[in-house]
Amino acid sequence: MKKIAVFTSGGDSPGMNACIRAVVRTGIYRGLEVYGIQRGYEGMIEGDIKRMHSYSVSNIIQRGGTILKSARSLEFKTPEGRKKAFDNLKDLEIEGLIAIGGDGTFTGAKVFFEEYGIPTVGCPGTIDNDIYGTDFTIGFDTAVNTALEAIDKIRDTAAAHDRIFFVEVMGRDSGFIAVECGIGGGAEFVMVPETKTDLNSVVKSLKNLRKSKSSSIIVVAEGDDLGNADQIMHMVKDKIKDPSKEFKVTTLGHIQRGGNPTARDRVLGSRCGMGAIDGLIAGKTNCMAGVMSNTIVYTSFEDCISKPKPLHPDHLALIDILSI
Ligand code: F6P
Repeated sequence: MKKIAVFTSGGDSPGMNACIRAVVRTGIYRGLEVYGIQRGYEGMIEGDIKRMHSYSVSNIIQRGGTILKSARSLEFKTPEGRKKAFDNLKDLEIEGLIAIGGDGTFTGAKVFFEEYGIPTVGCPGTIDNDIYGTDFTIGFDTAVNTALEAIDKIRDTAAAHDRIFFVEVMGRDSGFIAVECGIGGGAEFVMVPETKTDLNSVVKSLKNLRKSKSSSIIVVAEGDDLGNADQIMHMVKDKIKDPSKEFKVTTLGHIQRGGNPTARDRVLGSRCGMGAIDGLIAGKTNCMAGVMSNTIVYTSFEDCISKPKPLHPDHLALIDILSI
């Protein structure tokens, strides 16, 4: 193997740049020519692929976003789109791929490998932490810390006015960010897509809590089964029926995706990037390089995409116990 290419795809996450840097520099160190594909599968289809050098990744380890840019490509979902992508890689004699992204990225990489057989190793880049085969995903720690900083600030004003705040964090299908912020931010409740939210018990507890507490923070993952934070706030308000109680909603949104990556995310991104190159050279393919129990492990894309990564039940219990 002489030439490989790296790309980032799907929702960006802080630490992707550290991962790109590690891929490029480890690749060069191991004697490979490394290319960068712009805007994920879109750039692969359009042939937007350029040689990268050691200096191409200078001064990026501390930056959020991705220097390669990212996209969610609809065309790559079609056989015609994938054929165009393959032809572009063939023209450049690219023999291996490193895909940095989440489950959508790996689903595309798996189909592409099955059709065209270009060896591909992935790195888990998503703030959601919802990928099986790695304890944490690149960007999760930064997103949690960003959300936590916001929750701390909301707590100040919530307490000053004795208000009940619903804070919506990202996580369409998973509640990892919500649970981590809930524990770290001392939330009274956390609502996540993985468990059924019992509105009545929330209302009952909120009424009781209000006797002893000046304010309440409820962290809602955007994909909760009852709806988004605004919808849930209205449901609770309608049931509590107390005009003296004030309810507020803050949706944190995309600020969770940006910002300088934490040390943890820089190290994780660097380790996964190096692990991906070393895996590719060792003949691994159609799999992701993740870190479990502090060790690099390779997990098939199939398992990464299809196996569930459950929330730790102790963490949910912790929130209940510590919010009394
Ligand atoms: O998958 C990462 C993520 O940030 C989710 O938490 C969120 O639901 C989604 O991406 C938002 O996607 P977009 O930036 O395309 O709106």
